[in-house]
Amino acid sequence: MPRLGVNIDHVATVRQARRTNEPDPVWAAAQAQLGGADGITVHLREDRRHIQDRDVRLLIETVSAKLNLECAIEEEMIDIAADLHPQQVCLVPERREEITTEGGLNVAGNQKQVEHAVKTLRAAGISVSLFIDAQADQIDAAKAVGADAIELHTGKYALSSGDDRHKELAKLHMAVDRGLSNDIEVHAGHGLTYDNVVPVASINGVQELNIGHSIIARSIFVGIQQAVRDMKALVGEPWWRAIG
Ligand code: PXP
Repeated sequence: MPRLGVNIDHVATVRQARRTNEPDPVWAAAQAQLGGADGITVHLREDRRHIQDRDVRLLIETVSAKLNLECAIEEEMIDIAADLHPQQVCLVPERREEITTEGGLNVAGNQKQVEHAVKTLRAAGISVSLFIDAQADQIDAAKAVGADAIELHTGKYALSSGDDRHKELAKLHMAVDRGLSNDIEVHAGHGLTYDNVVPVASINGVQELNIGHSIIARSIFVGIQQAVRDMKALVGEPWWRAIG
């Protein structure tokens, strides 16, 4: 059963709407862990539209679960990430005009740049994951550049329906198998919700799911702890069994 990484970017989105100090993503991380989160994920974007450097610094000090920092492969961001020293960095493509991360990183087409980023981070003792589409060439390239893990982009699966959804799920199954046969850890995320998560969480070999928007959206009505518990009940061990 996969670990659940809770992406708390959108807590910071609400704060940044007023450029004030509430709600604090550091509080959200504590609540998410009380609800059973196995990890906390944040995306430090180049435009700092939600998560700020201060958030990452405090989260690294206070989060006892795994801290996964998403960032672009730009030199400046890699240096910041290496300096901050989270447990894991997930390298993602980034475009300023996008609302959210739209596609996977083109590792196969940018092998040198990605390899340099992976090497820098691994030399700093950080585990590196690459956010990629479920394509064989990208998975093989991720292995070739020395990544510890891949995170499969589940956005197309999440947005599809009917036969297309079956096809997207089949691609994810293929990608998980290819990742495992390449001896690389397989994660998945993006667009996963309480309604669509189970088929992905049930794929044998998926070790981590990173889920943000759906959990934070539900938390407005039920609180973060409960929203995480609800997701945890779908993707893995119920929180009360994990601590009992
Ligand atoms: N994984 C990665 C690499 C992402 O960039 C995001 C969005 O920030 C997520 C997972 C979470 O996506 P969502 O908010 O749609 O659950």
